[in-house]
Amino acid sequence: MVMIDAALCVGCGACAEDCPGHAIYIKEGKAEAVRPCIQCGHCTAICPVKAVSIPEYDMEEVEEYDPKTFRIAPENFLHAVKFRRSIRNFKAQPLEREALEHILAAGRYTATAKNAQACTFVVVQERLEEFKSLFWEEVPGLLEKLKAQESPYFSPFRYFYQQWKRNPANDTFFFNTPCLLVIAAENPLDGGLAAANMENQAVAEGAGVLYSGYLMRSISASPRLLEWLGIGDKPIACCMLAGYPAVSYRRTAPRKKADIIWK
Ligand SMILES: Cc1cc2nc3c(=O)[nH]c(=O)nc-3n(C[C@H](O)[C@H](O)[C@H](O)COP(=O)(O)O)c2cc1C
Repeated sequence: MVMIDAALCVGCGACAEDCPGHAIYIKEGKAEAVRPCIQCGHCTAICPVKAVSIPEYDMEEVEEYDPKTFRIAPENFLHAVKFRRSIRNFKAQPLEREALEHILAAGRYTATAKNAQACTFVVVQERLEEFKSLFWEEVPGLLEKLKAQESPYFSPFRYFYQQWKRNPANDTFFFNTPCLLVIAAENPLDGGLAAANMENQAVAEGAGVLYSGYLMRSISASPRLLEWLGIGDKPIACCMLAGYPAVSYRRTAPRKKADIIWK
Protein backbone atom coordinates (compact mmCIF):
# COMPACT_ATOMS: atom_id res chain seq x y z
CA MET A 1 0.00 0.00 0.00
CA VAL A 2 1.15 3.54 -0.62
CA MET A 3 1.60 5.71 2.46
CA ILE A 4 0.06 9.14 2.80
CA ASP A 5 1.33 11.45 5.49
CA ALA A 6 -1.90 12.98 6.78
CA ALA A 7 0.00 15.83 8.43
CA LEU A 8 1.33 16.92 5.02
CA CYS A 9 -1.67 16.02 2.84
CA VAL A 10 -3.69 19.08 1.75
CA GLY A 11 -6.54 16.97 0.37
CA CYS A 12 -6.20 18.37 -3.16
CA GLY A 13 -7.21 15.00 -4.66
CA ALA A 14 -4.52 15.01 -7.36
CA CYS A 15 -3.27 11.56 -6.31
CA ALA A 16 -6.77 10.07 -6.21
CA GLU A 17 -7.62 11.48 -9.61
CA ASP A 18 -4.43 10.24 -11.27
CA CYS A 19 -4.36 6.78 -9.65
CA PRO A 20 -4.96 4.22 -12.46
CA GLY A 21 -6.22 1.62 -9.98
CA HIS A 22 -8.59 3.97 -8.12
CA ALA A 23 -6.84 2.92 -4.92
CA ILE A 24 -6.87 6.34 -3.25
CA TYR A 25 -9.89 8.19 -1.93
CA ILE A 26 -10.29 11.54 -0.22
CA LYS A 27 -11.88 11.05 3.17
CA GLU A 28 -12.56 13.97 5.46
CA GLY A 29 -10.25 16.21 3.46
CA LYS A 30 -7.28 13.80 3.42
CA ALA A 31 -6.09 11.25 0.88
CA GLU A 32 -6.25 7.64 1.98
CA ALA A 33 -4.98 4.49 0.24
CA VAL A 34 -7.84 2.01 0.37
CA ARG A 35 -6.35 -1.02 -1.35
CA PRO A 36 -3.08 -2.47 -2.61
CA CYS A 37 -2.07 -1.30 -6.07
CA ILE A 38 0.57 -1.79 -8.76
CA GLN A 39 2.73 0.86 -7.08
CA CYS A 40 3.26 2.85 -10.25
CA GLY A 41 4.20 5.88 -8.17
CA HIS A 42 1.97 8.39 -9.97
CA CYS A 43 0.62 9.47 -6.57
CA THR A 44 4.17 10.20 -5.38
CA ALA A 45 5.04 12.00 -8.59
CA ILE A 46 1.95 14.24 -8.67
CA CYS A 47 1.59 15.25 -5.01
CA PRO A 48 2.23 19.00 -4.56
CA VAL A 49 3.44 18.60 -0.95
CA LYS A 50 5.44 15.32 -1.05
CA ALA A 51 2.92 13.60 1.22
CA VAL A 52 2.92 10.27 -0.62
CA SER A 53 5.57 7.60 -0.29
CA ILE A 54 5.84 3.91 -1.14
CA PRO A 55 7.60 1.93 1.58
CA GLU A 56 8.78 -0.76 -0.86
CA TYR A 57 10.89 1.76 -2.78
CA ASP A 58 13.85 3.93 -1.88
CA MET A 59 12.22 7.34 -1.74
CA GLU A 60 15.64 9.01 -1.66
CA GLU A 61 15.89 8.20 -5.37
CA VAL A 62 12.89 10.31 -6.30
CA GLU A 63 13.97 13.38 -8.27
CA GLU A 64 12.16 16.70 -8.52
CA TYR A 65 10.90 17.77 -11.93
CA ASP A 66 13.52 19.86 -13.69
CA PRO A 67 12.07 21.91 -16.56
CA LYS A 68 15.56 22.49 -17.97
CA THR A 69 16.35 18.82 -18.57
CA PHE A 70 13.01 17.04 -18.66
CA ARG A 71 12.12 17.90 -22.22
CA ILE A 72 14.61 17.07 -24.94
CA ALA A 73 14.15 19.36 -27.96
CA PRO A 74 12.05 17.29 -30.43
CA GLU A 75 14.50 17.80 -33.30
CA ASN A 76 17.40 16.69 -31.06
CA PHE A 77 15.58 13.56 -29.96
CA LEU A 78 14.65 12.57 -33.50
CA HIS A 79 18.19 13.24 -34.70
CA ALA A 80 19.52 11.00 -31.92
CA VAL A 81 17.10 8.22 -32.90
CA LYS A 82 18.12 8.53 -36.55
CA PHE A 83 21.81 8.79 -35.82
CA ARG A 84 22.22 5.80 -33.49
CA ARG A 85 23.87 2.88 -35.28
CA SER A 86 24.41 -0.78 -34.61
CA ILE A 87 28.06 -1.03 -33.60
CA ARG A 88 30.06 -3.89 -35.07
CA ASN A 89 33.50 -2.53 -34.27
CA PHE A 90 34.27 -1.80 -30.63
CA LYS A 91 37.30 -0.31 -28.90
CA ALA A 92 38.96 -2.67 -26.41
CA GLN A 93 38.34 -0.14 -23.60
CA PRO A 94 35.81 -1.45 -21.05
CA LEU A 95 32.64 0.51 -20.37
CA GLU A 96 33.11 2.87 -17.45
CA ARG A 97 31.27 1.88 -14.30
CA GLU A 98 29.30 5.14 -14.17
CA ALA A 99 28.19 4.77 -17.78
CA LEU A 100 27.08 1.20 -17.05
CA GLU A 101 25.13 2.38 -13.99
CA HIS A 102 23.34 4.98 -16.13
CA ILE A 103 22.58 2.44 -18.86
CA LEU A 104 21.12 0.04 -16.29
CA ALA A 105 19.10 2.85 -14.70
CA ALA A 106 17.62 3.65 -18.14
CA GLY A 107 16.49 0.01 -18.33
CA ARG A 108 15.17 0.01 -14.80
CA TYR A 109 13.10 3.18 -15.26
CA THR A 110 11.47 1.96 -18.48
CA ALA A 111 7.73 1.23 -18.47
CA THR A 112 6.75 -2.38 -17.78
CA ALA A 113 3.36 -4.06 -18.21
CA LYS A 114 1.38 -3.84 -14.96
CA ASN A 115 4.44 -2.06 -13.55
CA ALA A 116 5.96 -5.51 -13.00
CA GLN A 117 9.56 -4.18 -13.06
CA ALA A 118 10.59 -7.79 -13.44
CA CYS A 119 13.41 -7.62 -15.98
CA THR A 120 16.71 -9.17 -14.95
CA PHE A 121 19.78 -7.39 -16.30
CA VAL A 122 23.05 -9.31 -16.58
CA VAL A 123 26.25 -7.37 -17.19
CA VAL A 124 29.16 -9.49 -18.37
CA GLN A 125 32.30 -7.42 -18.50
CA GLU A 126 34.86 -8.67 -15.96
CA ARG A 127 34.25 -12.31 -16.85
CA LEU A 128 33.60 -11.83 -20.56
CA GLU A 129 36.52 -14.01 -21.69
CA GLU A 130 35.21 -16.86 -19.51
CA PHE A 131 31.76 -16.46 -21.08
CA LYS A 132 33.18 -16.40 -24.60
CA SER A 133 35.21 -19.59 -24.02
CA LEU A 134 32.10 -21.34 -22.78
CA PHE A 135 30.13 -19.98 -25.71
CA TRP A 136 32.57 -21.39 -28.29
CA GLU A 137 32.54 -24.74 -26.46
CA GLU A 138 28.77 -24.81 -26.92
CA VAL A 139 28.74 -23.94 -30.64
CA PRO A 140 29.49 -27.45 -32.05
CA GLY A 141 26.46 -28.85 -30.18
CA LEU A 142 24.35 -25.95 -31.40
CA LEU A 143 25.49 -26.57 -34.98
CA GLU A 144 24.45 -30.22 -34.73
CA LYS A 145 20.98 -29.20 -33.54
CA LEU A 146 20.61 -26.56 -36.25
CA LYS A 147 21.69 -29.03 -38.92
CA ALA A 148 19.21 -31.65 -37.73
CA GLN A 149 16.46 -29.03 -37.81
CA GLU A 150 17.53 -27.88 -41.31
CA SER A 151 17.57 -24.41 -39.78
CA PRO A 152 18.56 -21.39 -41.91
CA TYR A 153 20.76 -20.39 -38.95
CA PHE A 154 23.10 -23.33 -39.59
CA SER A 155 25.14 -21.54 -42.29
CA PRO A 156 25.77 -18.28 -40.41
CA PHE A 157 26.73 -20.15 -37.22
CA ARG A 158 29.05 -22.45 -39.16
CA TYR A 159 30.66 -19.36 -40.68
CA PHE A 160 31.13 -17.69 -37.26
CA TYR A 161 32.63 -20.88 -35.87
CA GLN A 162 35.00 -21.40 -38.82
CA GLN A 163 36.17 -17.80 -38.61
CA TRP A 164 36.81 -18.08 -34.89
CA LYS A 165 38.62 -21.44 -35.32
CA ARG A 166 40.83 -19.98 -38.02
CA ASN A 167 41.75 -16.93 -35.96
CA PRO A 168 40.13 -16.18 -32.58
CA ALA A 169 41.32 -12.57 -32.87
CA ASN A 170 39.19 -12.12 -36.01
CA ASP A 171 36.01 -11.80 -34.03
CA THR A 172 33.06 -11.86 -36.43
CA PHE A 173 30.62 -12.83 -33.71
CA PHE A 174 31.46 -10.66 -30.67
CA PHE A 175 33.05 -7.87 -32.72
CA ASN A 176 35.67 -7.28 -30.03
CA THR A 177 33.02 -6.08 -27.59
CA PRO A 178 34.22 -5.38 -24.05
CA CYS A 179 30.79 -5.96 -22.52
CA LEU A 180 27.69 -8.04 -22.92
CA LEU A 181 24.27 -6.99 -21.62
CA VAL A 182 21.53 -9.61 -21.33
CA ILE A 183 17.94 -8.77 -20.45
CA ALA A 184 15.67 -11.57 -19.29
CA ALA A 185 11.93 -10.93 -18.97
CA GLU A 186 8.73 -12.95 -18.96
CA ASN A 187 7.15 -10.25 -21.09
CA PRO A 188 9.39 -9.80 -24.15
CA LEU A 189 8.04 -6.31 -24.75
CA ASP A 190 9.19 -5.21 -21.28
CA GLY A 191 12.70 -6.40 -22.13
CA GLY A 192 12.65 -4.86 -25.61
CA LEU A 193 11.52 -1.46 -24.39
CA ALA A 194 14.19 -1.50 -21.67
CA ALA A 195 16.78 -2.40 -24.30
CA ALA A 196 15.82 0.54 -26.50
CA ASN A 197 16.20 3.01 -23.64
CA MET A 198 19.46 1.39 -22.62
CA GLU A 199 20.79 1.79 -26.14
CA ASN A 200 19.83 5.46 -26.21
CA GLN A 201 21.51 5.98 -22.84
CA ALA A 202 24.59 4.14 -24.08
CA VAL A 203 24.77 6.50 -27.05
CA ALA A 204 24.42 9.49 -24.71
CA GLU A 205 27.39 8.09 -22.76
CA GLY A 206 29.51 8.04 -25.94
CA ALA A 207 29.05 4.28 -26.28
CA GLY A 208 26.88 2.11 -28.50
CA VAL A 209 25.40 -1.37 -28.78
CA LEU A 210 24.64 -4.18 -31.17
CA TYR A 211 21.47 -6.13 -30.57
CA SER A 212 22.62 -9.67 -31.19
CA GLY A 213 19.79 -11.94 -32.22
CA TYR A 214 22.34 -14.66 -32.95
CA LEU A 215 23.69 -14.51 -29.42
CA MET A 216 20.21 -14.51 -27.93
CA ARG A 217 19.34 -17.57 -29.99
CA SER A 218 22.49 -19.42 -28.95
CA ILE A 219 22.20 -18.61 -25.25
CA SER A 220 18.52 -19.55 -25.18
CA ALA A 221 19.40 -22.94 -26.69
CA SER A 222 22.18 -23.69 -24.20
CA PRO A 223 21.35 -24.77 -20.62
CA ARG A 224 25.05 -24.31 -19.74
CA LEU A 225 25.15 -20.69 -20.88
CA LEU A 226 21.81 -19.99 -19.21
CA GLU A 227 23.08 -21.45 -15.97
CA TRP A 228 26.32 -19.50 -16.20
CA LEU A 229 24.38 -16.25 -16.63
CA GLY A 230 22.24 -17.13 -13.60
CA ILE A 231 18.87 -16.07 -15.01
CA GLY A 232 17.06 -19.32 -14.19
CA ASP A 233 13.98 -20.02 -16.30
CA LYS A 234 13.36 -16.42 -17.29
CA PRO A 235 13.34 -16.14 -21.09
CA ILE A 236 15.91 -13.88 -22.69
CA ALA A 237 14.32 -10.82 -24.25
CA CYS A 238 17.47 -9.20 -25.59
CA CYS A 239 21.24 -9.57 -25.83
CA MET A 240 23.38 -6.55 -26.53
CA LEU A 241 27.06 -6.18 -27.18
CA ALA A 242 28.06 -2.83 -25.70
CA GLY A 243 31.12 -0.63 -25.73
CA TYR A 244 32.76 2.45 -27.18
CA PRO A 245 32.59 2.47 -30.99
CA ALA A 246 35.83 2.23 -32.94
CA VAL A 247 33.94 3.57 -35.93
CA SER A 248 32.17 6.90 -36.44
CA TYR A 249 29.34 7.71 -38.80
CA ARG A 250 29.06 10.96 -40.71
CA ARG A 251 25.35 10.97 -41.39
CA THR A 252 22.12 9.07 -40.76
CA ALA A 253 21.36 5.86 -42.64
CA PRO A 254 18.46 5.86 -45.14
CA ARG A 255 15.30 3.92 -44.43
CA LYS A 256 12.34 2.46 -46.30
CA LYS A 257 9.22 4.57 -46.40
CA ALA A 258 7.19 3.79 -43.29
CA ASP A 259 4.07 1.68 -43.57
CA ILE A 260 1.66 4.06 -41.87
CA ILE A 261 -2.11 4.02 -41.96
CA TRP A 262 -3.70 7.40 -41.28
CA LYS A 263 -7.42 7.42 -40.58
C1 LIG B 1 16.20 -7.71 -32.48
C2 LIG B 1 17.44 -7.43 -33.31
C3 LIG B 1 18.38 -8.41 -33.50
C4 LIG B 1 19.54 -8.15 -34.24
N1 LIG B 1 20.48 -9.11 -34.35
C5 LIG B 1 21.63 -8.84 -35.01
C6 LIG B 1 22.69 -9.83 -35.08
O1 LIG B 1 22.57 -10.94 -34.55
N2 LIG B 1 23.82 -9.52 -35.74
C7 LIG B 1 23.99 -8.30 -36.35
O2 LIG B 1 25.06 -8.08 -36.94
N3 LIG B 1 23.01 -7.35 -36.28
C8 LIG B 1 21.87 -7.58 -35.63
N4 LIG B 1 20.88 -6.61 -35.53
C9 LIG B 1 21.13 -5.28 -36.10
C10 LIG B 1 20.31 -4.98 -37.38
O3 LIG B 1 20.86 -5.67 -38.46
C11 LIG B 1 20.35 -3.45 -37.57
O4 LIG B 1 19.60 -2.85 -36.55
C12 LIG B 1 19.81 -3.00 -38.92
O5 LIG B 1 20.60 -3.50 -39.97
C13 LIG B 1 19.78 -1.47 -39.04
O6 LIG B 1 21.05 -0.88 -38.79
P1 LIG B 1 21.21 0.20 -37.62
O7 LIG B 1 20.87 -0.50 -36.32
O8 LIG B 1 22.62 0.66 -37.66
O9 LIG B 1 20.23 1.29 -37.88
C14 LIG B 1 19.74 -6.86 -34.81
C15 LIG B 1 18.76 -5.87 -34.61
C16 LIG B 1 17.64 -6.14 -33.86
C17 LIG B 1 16.63 -5.04 -33.63
